[in-house]
Amino acid sequence: MTTTLQINRQRQTLQSPPDTPLLWALRDEIGLTGTKFGCGMALCGACTVHINGVATRSCVTPISAVGDKPVTTIEQVATTGPQAKVGKAVQDAWVKHDVAQCGYCQSGQVMSATALLMKNRQPTNDDIDTAMAGNICRCGTYARIRAAIHDAAKTLA
Ligand code: FES
Ligand code: FES
Repeated sequence: MTTTLQINRQRQTLQSPPDTPLLWALRDEIGLTGTKFGCGMALCGACTVHINGVATRSCVTPISAVGDKPVTTIEQVATTGPQAKVGKAVQDAWVKHDVAQCGYCQSGQVMSATALLMKNRQPTNDDIDTAMAGNICRCGTYARIRAAIHDAAKTLA
């Protein structure tokens, strides 16, 4: 049995069983390794992608649950699709503020920040803290993440 998904605006026919987590399909079957495995239990946010524009933990999302909804990953968040302008502003702000330390959590952080700014172009500190609460950074880059999100919001205003 195969599963066909829309990933980064391309149809992908997957051979993985329907209960395969989207994260494994992205990384192992399609080769999109920018999305990271952290905990596998929806606790860290490293595996965050967008499904229909919503920040979603791909480690606990079976491919059978995705259906026709478009999936966007870190590889295309700043270049393809309706979120691209916001994704680019977020990535530029990340570079400007030198957010990443080891970098492992950062693709998930960028995906969550982009989803936030797609819904809320002027987030307060509380809005940011709430939206980003599920994205853990062992390097403690939270202050730079917050500053970069405010900066991206300014760029997009
Ligand atoms: S790997 Fe998915 S939330 Fe941690
Ligand atoms: S930059 Fe190292 S875990 Fe976040």
